[in-house]
Formats: sequence, C-alpha cells, structure tokens
Amino acid sequence: MSLRSFTLLLSAVAMLVCANLSSASESFVLSEHCPPSFEKNAQGQCKLVNMYQMYDSIENKGMGGTQTSLPPYRDGFTPQQIDLGRYLFFDPLLSPNQTLSCASCHQPQKGFADGLDRSIGILGEKVKRAAPTLWNAAFLQRLFWDGRATTLEQQAAGPLFAADEMGNTPEQLLNSLQNNTYYPDMFKQAFPASQKIELAQIYRALAAFQSSLISLNSRYDHYAHGYHQALTEPEIEGMNIFRSFVARCSECHTPPLFTNQQIAVIGTPEPAGLPLDVGAETPFHSEKLKGGFKVPTLRNIVKTAPYMHSGVFPTLREAVDFYNKGRGHAVPEGVKMYIHWHIWEPNLTEQEIDRIVDFLGALTDESLTPAIPQRLPSGLK
Ligand code: HEC
Ligand code: HEC
Repeated sequence: MSLRSFTLLLSAVAMLVCANLSSASESFVLSEHCPPSFEKNAQGQCKLVNMYQMYDSIENKGMGGTQTSLPPYRDGFTPQQIDLGRYLFFDPLLSPNQTLSCASCHQPQKGFADGLDRSIGILGEKVKRAAPTLWNAAFLQRLFWDGRATTLEQQAAGPLFAADEMGNTPEQLLNSLQNNTYYPDMFKQAFPASQKIELAQIYRALAAFQSSLISLNSRYDHYAHGYHQALTEPEIEGMNIFRSFVARCSECHTPPLFTNQQIAVIGTPEPAGLPLDVGAETPFHSEKLKGGFKVPTLRNIVKTAPYMHSGVFPTLREAVDFYNKGRGHAVPEGVKMYIHWHIWEPNLTEQEIDRIVDFLGALTDESLTPAIPQRLPSGLK
C-alpha cells in the first residue's frame, strides 16, 4: 500500500470514528423528570399536583363558587412518554411529505391554536373547522368540536390519517419512525417492554405530552384560591356578570375549566359563503344536536382568536357580543335548531360586555409552556 493510500485510509477511519462519536453524543435521551406541576410516584408515573385538588366538592362554596374540585383527568404517564410525545408533536416527520407537525396547527405561542379561522391542511386548503387550544386537554371527556372522540389516543388518529389534515397512513407513519436513526431507541426508552414501534405507543406518547399542558395558574386562579387582589375592579365586575343569572355564561363555561364539557346548541353563524355545520348531529345521530358543539374552555382565550368552530368572530368582543343579540338570531331561515335554554336575551349593556371581556383576559396562564425541541430526531425544522 502506498503512503498516499494509507493516509487516505487513515483519514477515512478517523472520519468514521468521528461520525460515530458525534452520533452518540447527538442521541436523544428522554427526560427522567416529570414536567413542572407533576410529581413522580413510586411507580415512576407523573401525577398532577394542583391547588384545586384540595377542594373536595364541585359545589364547595355553593353553586358557582370558585373553590371547586377538578373533574377527572388523565395523568400517570412516565416522564419518558411525555418527552417522546413532545418530540413527536413538533416533528413534521409525522406527515407524509414532512411539512406538517401537530404544532403547525397547535402552536405554543398561539395558545396551541393557529390564529386562523380554519386550519390549513396538507393539501394547502382550509379544513372544515378551527384548531382548538390544547391547554387542559387532559380534562376533556369529549374531543373535537362535535365531541366525536372520547380519548386523546382516539383523537390522535384523526389528524394523522385525515386526507385533508396530515394525510398519512398507518404503514407509512410506522415506516418513517422505524427507519429513523433515533426514534426506535426513543420508543424503547418510553416503552421498555416493547420490541417495535406500535401505533398505540404513538397515540399514548402524544396523549402523555398533551396531558402535561396544564393551565390553572392564571390571575383568576389566584383570586379563586383567596388572593382577592389578583383581579382588578373591572375584572371582578366582569366575573360577577359572567357568573350571574342574567348572562349565564358560567352555566356552560363552568369554572375551574370554564367548560362543563357538554354539547350545546347555541346557534353560532357560519362565515359568509360556508354551508351550515351541523356539528354534533352527525356523530350522535340526533337532530336535537343539529348545530351543537362542545362547550370550549375559555382558558387562554385571548391567545386563540378568531373564535367559534369556524372562526367566524375575529375578536373576543364580537364573540361575547354574539350572546347579546338574541336567541337564535343567526340560525339560517328554514333550519330547525333546538337552542339551549340558557341562551336567551340578557340585554347586557356595552359596558357590561366590555367587563366580561376584561375578565376573560384574566384567564391567561402559559407558565407551563413546554420547551420546543431545539433539534428533532428527523433533522427537520
Ligand atoms: C391541519 C391542522 C392540524 C394538524 C396538523 C393537527 N390538528 Fe389537531 N385539530 C385541528 C382542527 C381543525 C381540530 C378541530 C377539528 C374538529 O373539531 O372537527 C383539531 C382538534 C384537535 C384536538 C381536540 C381538541 C378539543 O378540544 O376537542 C386535539 C387533542 C388535537 N387536535 C391534537 C392534535 C395532535 C396530537 C396532532 C398531531 C398528531 C394534531 N392535532 C394535528 C387542526 C390540526
Ligand atoms: C348553553 C351553553 C353556553 C352558554 C350559556 C354560553 N356559552 Fe359560550 N360557547 C358555548 C358553545 C357550545 C360554544 C362553541 C360554539 C361554536 O363553536 O359554534 C361557545 C363558545 C364561546 C366562545 C368562543 C370560544 C372559542 O374557543 O372559540 C366564547 C368567547 C364564549 N363562548 C363566551 C361566552 C360568554 C361570555 C357567555 C355568556 C355571555 C357564554 N359564552 C355563554 C356554550 C355556551
């Protein structure tokens, strides 16, 4: 062997060693720590720790009181499952042309919504509805605007495989994860008992991550726990109107989640030119639910304009004003809707509407916003 080819060989070996070293140092070690607001139990699962757990009754201080307990919720995932879900959530590898991640439509800086009236899917076209916030999704018994899914795991299959959303197929999704340099090992860290990546693990990791998005520490919550200076006078005024028998907002947007998790027909209009969205009528096969939608949470509501299932109201003021315009005022002619009995004509003054909007501004808490991964296993942005 000539000296020249020997040196070449040496440098090739050196490059290989370097590549190996750097890939080892770049491997993804999933977190062993639970996110803030969770505590690791003896089984290594993350359990939610929150002030509202101190209150044992949903009617603690009388109906509509602030010190109410939390409804059932999802927790008990391991730190590794939550962390794997974080990578999956932000990784466009989950869509077949590697352009869309969950975070494309659920952006942390936009309240985990996307700022659009209706989201734009993989075909570059608007989908049917607006992206809801994912804050406090851990508590939801029904998912999607029409309530058609009952668990986060079941929900995840929706966007992944809907042709107009992420447009993937189960086979292709599993292939792209299995063939990735890092994901097989990361799934092992999160699901040590399993030999290969399974769809159920993808759903579970996404559910785990989403269940960590807890928002229960707003200025309103400080007030609710007894620190009354946390809210301004106009906000307290707004809160009292919100909870009053005149406005009736809290009958449906019930604290502490600001949703009672029911489906309600309130008769929201569609944006000009769009056909009527019958909402929950379809999954529940019930005419009574025509135009019915899941009562959305109002947490972090100032972050998630535009409002309602198809983003018809650009501002919060307009969304609140809707309730003042009269029962069924926007129902298209000739359509029979069974509007909920709490929707009526509260005749709020302009000032009262402003105060409600002030109050809704006090429901913002993004302190547990997770870190966006600096680097993704797919190498994509
Ligand atoms: C193209 C935009 C888009 C992408 C990508 C997307 N979503 Fe969504 N998401 C939506 C829209 C729109 C809805 C509401 C659809 C409906 O109600 O019919 C929704 C609803 C949801 C809900 C229900 C929330 C609730 O309050 O009912 C969850 C949870 C969710 N998405 C999680 C995810 C996850 C996890 C991913 C990635 C696997 C994802 N989304 C990807 C747009 C998107
Ligand atoms: C009968 C139950 C009910 C009552 C009472 C009610 N809401 Fe709603 N609210 C809903 C439902 C259902 C939606 C979703 C409707 C849709 O998307 O078409 C909604 C949507 C909203 C939204 C938009 C949320 C989003 O994420 O887009 C706001 C803001 C809101 N309500 C505020 C109020 C206020 C303020 C009051 C009192 C004046 C009130 N609501 C009374 C059921 C109710």
